Amino acid sequence: MTELLDLIKSRKSVRQYNRKHIPDEDLRKILEAGRLAPSWMNVQCWKFILVKSQESKDLLSELSVGQPQVKNADAVIVCVADTEAWEEAKITHIQKPALNPALQCENGILIRSLEQVIYPVSYMMLEAASLGIGSCIIGAFGSEITKVLPDVYSSVKQKLNLKESHIISTIITLGYEETPTPTDKKRKNFDEVVYFERIGKVIP
Ligand SMILES: Cc1cc2nc3c(=O)[nH]c(=O)nc-3n(C[C@H](O)[C@H](O)[C@H](O)COP(=O)(O)O)c2cc1C
Repeated sequence: MTELLDLIKSRKSVRQYNRKHIPDEDLRKILEAGRLAPSWMNVQCWKFILVKSQESKDLLSELSVGQPQVKNADAVIVCVADTEAWEEAKITHIQKPALNPALQCENGILIRSLEQVIYPVSYMMLEAASLGIGSCIIGAFGSEITKVLPDVYSSVKQKLNLKESHIISTIITLGYEETPTPTDKKRKNFDEVVYFERIGKVIP
């Protein structure tokens, strides 16, 4: 069995895809990995919309300031933060700020909802990699947060039947890498980002 760390080391963003289709059962496995991710008090404030139609992928590409991998992907997962889920889970009834994002700051629910979606996104990306499927996280797109392309954003929400309380947080593109190339990880060194507690030592 491959160690998870080896998979993490070999995963990379894939932006050019061949025309091979991803089997439905593999797409389901990827979505299942997202569904099983952990969240604050198990609130699971997320929805994942699998998009395969060319028309919707084109619209999402437009929303992503024209990024071609969005329209060229075999499938796209639109990851949505569901800001109403906290109310449904009765977390907003809790009177302790540490346990209730609504009491933390003006945009507490929005901030913590967007935070939760990071975990399923990571799980889905790794599950895709384990199945030999390339993926790329798309964060550069118009939304309530970025205030870019508001009209396209409204069209996307309408097309995907999203509610006002559904905030698109991330788009994941999926497909088989066109020309497989080795992974070249460009990361800060271990010592630049990891510190073992040492009293009196200032972290730069
Ligand atoms: C939150 C987030 C947003 C990103 N947005 C984009 C994007 O809009 N377009 C893109 O091509 N890559 C995007 N990426 C991919 C990063 O550029 C990529 O993960 C980073 O350069 C490291 O490369 P690697 O994934 O190949 O290890 C995003 C990644 C993250 C985590």
